[in-house]
Amino acid sequence: SGLITLDPGFKNTGSTKSAITFLDGEKGILRYRGYRIEDLAEKSTFLEVAYLLIYGELPTQEEYAKFSKDITHHTLVHEDIKKILDGFPSNAHPMGVLSSLICSLSAFYPESLNPNRDKESVNLSIIRLLAKMPTFAAWAYKNEVGHPVNYPDNSLDYCSNFLKMMFALPAERYEVDPVVAKALDQLLILHADHEQNCSTSTVRVVGSSQASIYASISAGINALWGPLHGGANQSVIEMLDAIKADGGDTKKFLDKAKDKDDPFRLMGFGHRVYKNFDPRAKIIKKAADDVLSKLGTNDPILDIAKELEYAALNDQYFVDRKLYPNVDFYSGIIYRALGIPTDMFTVMFALGRLPGWIAQWKEMRENGEPIGRPRQVYVGATERDYVTMNKR
Ligand code: CMC
Repeated sequence: SGLITLDPGFKNTGSTKSAITFLDGEKGILRYRGYRIEDLAEKSTFLEVAYLLIYGELPTQEEYAKFSKDITHHTLVHEDIKKILDGFPSNAHPMGVLSSLICSLSAFYPESLNPNRDKESVNLSIIRLLAKMPTFAAWAYKNEVGHPVNYPDNSLDYCSNFLKMMFALPAERYEVDPVVAKALDQLLILHADHEQNCSTSTVRVVGSSQASIYASISAGINALWGPLHGGANQSVIEMLDAIKADGGDTKKFLDKAKDKDDPFRLMGFGHRVYKNFDPRAKIIKKAADDVLSKLGTNDPILDIAKELEYAALNDQYFVDRKLYPNVDFYSGIIYRALGIPTDMFTVMFALGRLPGWIAQWKEMRENGEPIGRPRQVYVGATERDYVTMNKR
């Protein structure tokens, strides 16, 4: 094992060459296929960004029209999937429901199990994933609140359709607020890809065994779920609520985060790669102000968040460790203003990250990458003689 380099958490290990996302953690740069995240967030739409990530180029008008039409056409899901949904208890976390429903697509479309299928067939799976994920996400929520599910409305754009499936009730008229749909679209763009993060690496490793794309994406959803990754957006709001309930003393929580005997961390702070600032956090902070004022919402936790950010950025502990607010620090505040319940925040992240996972899976397969199989440094017992149970 002398040849093996140990790198727990892969802090310094490149697992692949990739032409999808460029990230410079020192300079706070993020680009998808060469396009600045700031420009995409301001000028593009989520589906356009999805196309860019997956196929490598911004779509022409015709390409975009076909792509969105194809996605719209596949939003409906097999009726039997409702039976799977019905089997979940109402307290099931929507991330678990989402990953299960996505994985179930491998049963409804078994051709996805064939690693040698043609490009058209793979592309159809990609379209199906993008089309059905919002339906599953909204249905996971409906299961939780005990409301009947809504079917997709193909007259609406991607985010408006999702919002309607989430919030419309049979007894009430529901109109999608365009401010809400636009804000959601921008959040999804900001989450769309982030090179070899934990969930993306998971998608690539699972896919490298030539498991189906549905199984690979489902695994990515599970990796995203944890509080150190996508689950952080839920944890941030819970933390801010806890600070508020405790009287709003941010310093007390800052001290807790610095205390090495206390497992508490400042959620939404720190990043494996960004060591100066997270460019997505900058855009989101401004968006939080804009969206809340447009919607006329006054959420006291936005003030707590700003106070906490200011205090941390001026605290030696955080300065020394180069800990800055990450994408999740302000995203939850916007989700909350949009009416998204807290335990759906990570599901929203998954909706956003889906094109990135797909693009990375596709690149990995097209480049014929070998199976992902890290090595280890063994530190257990050396050879031992077996002792029968009655002698132990
Ligand atoms: N609060 C307090 N201390 C922290 C924090 C934090 N949020 N983050 C890192 N540190 C400390 C850590 O204790 C360590 O200190 P020391 O050197 O004294 O032992 C030092 O900073 C380096 O941290 P690390 O854990 O070695 O860094 P990492 O690259 O392994 O972890 C991280 C990165 C994002 C998991 C971590 O910063 C963290 O747990 N942050 C809070 C959770 C969070 O916001 N996650 C979302 C990440 S961004 C979006 C996403 O990926 O989903």
